[in-house]
Amino acid sequence: MSGPDIILTLKVLVSIVTALFAAAVGAIATGRKKLHGRINTAFFALTLTTVVGFEGLLRLQGNVTEHFTTDEKRALFIHLWFAVPSVLLLLLMMGSAVLKWKRFHVACGILFSLFWVGTFVTGVFFLPHSR
Ligand code: HEM
Repeated sequence: MSGPDIILTLKVLVSIVTALFAAAVGAIATGRKKLHGRINTAFFALTLTTVVGFEGLLRLQGNVTEHFTTDEKRALFIHLWFAVPSVLLLLLMMGSAVLKWKRFHVACGILFSLFWVGTFVTGVFFLPHSR
């Protein structure tokens, strides 16, 4: 798999898990707590598997940014400023759900949503996936 193929695949996967997250937010907004929990557990597992799997793949691939222009490297840098905190917040979200820290969970959820929107927009619309 080449660098651009990896990025394109990531874009598709991130779009799929974002649809799941949107459904989970819709579920909690309409009071369906169990459904929210189930969908978000899937979202959590899929997102972490994607991040860990692709991080490994990117490392096997060598330097994926080798052919990036300066602008593309900047876009990746900005994307990572959203993506890395998103992953950390995701762990806090699952932890606070398991511990039933409701206020913390909801407060972190708002922050997570902002970082996730940033991850999605900067990742799907600004990263290069063709040469
Ligand atoms: C906008 C973001 C989010 C909001 C506003 C939100 C809100 C909530 C609320 C209000 C509850 C019910 C808490 C209670 O009554 O004790 C809940 C439960 C839960 N949330 Fe979230 N959440 C968000 C994101 C997430 C994420 C990202 C995850 C997973 C990583 C997650 C996993 C769960 C789980 C597993 C439960 C327990 C469901 C159950 O008891 O069956 N949530 N959430």
